Amino acid sequence: MPRRIAAGNWKMNGLIADLAEADAIAVGAGHGGVEVVLCPPATLVAAMAGRFESVAVGGQDCHATAAGAHTGDISARMLADAGARFVILGHSERRRDHRETSADVAAKVSAAWAAGLCAIVCLGETEAERDAGRTLEVVAAQLAQSLPPGADAAHVVVAYEPVWAIGTGRVASPAEIGAVHAHLRALLPDPEIALLYGGSVAPGNAADIFAVPEVNGALVGGASLKAQGFLEIIAALAAARP
Ligand code: PGA
Repeated sequence: MPRRIAAGNWKMNGLIADLAEADAIAVGAGHGGVEVVLCPPATLVAAMAGRFESVAVGGQDCHATAAGAHTGDISARMLADAGARFVILGHSERRRDHRETSADVAAKVSAAWAAGLCAIVCLGETEAERDAGRTLEVVAAQLAQSLPPGADAAHVVVAYEPVWAIGTGRVASPAEIGAVHAHLRALLPDPEIALLYGGSVAPGNAADIFAVPEVNGALVGGASLKAQGFLEIIAALAAARP
């Protein structure tokens, strides 16, 4: 059985005062066989990782090398040193804003593994690619090129995030999610790798998403910033069939 994971991506949101929100998430997490992960901005990783046991902490990106002259970057080793256990890699906002290619992502995944981190590898089609009927081809290529050889369920989680559904309130339909997840599942190097859906996941749609076969959890942006909403999503995952 793949692990079941509810991961919150705080993106460029969160100040020290918001650690209270993370505390509230931690109090309600840790039940129902669901792993809860919070990925705050780098400034909060160490503070969060030292605060609770029920929630694991992750970074949102790392450099492909362990140290060196890369002003403004952070290495996987630094994230691990700060207490992180996960790192999100290849998020569409990184691919778009920083022109990251899948080859770049694969190099970062290797760096994450070297530091002992589990990589949450993101992929997904743009609206233009979907309209052109290229969704399955695009996600298959991203998967093949973003995972280094040797990927397994302990070291990789894959998040399918259609770009047009991120932060837009336009969630993909269960049929759309199901088609992509079934396709990805068949292509995974280890069939036990957890497959998350991301893109406008909210308390009101979480149960329907978690009922889709081959969905093992969610990567949640906006709705993970407030404890009440994120805890409702976590509860929906715990209540879904394993
Ligand atoms: P969203 O973001 O839930 O705000 O759509 C998801 C993500 O980008 O990981």
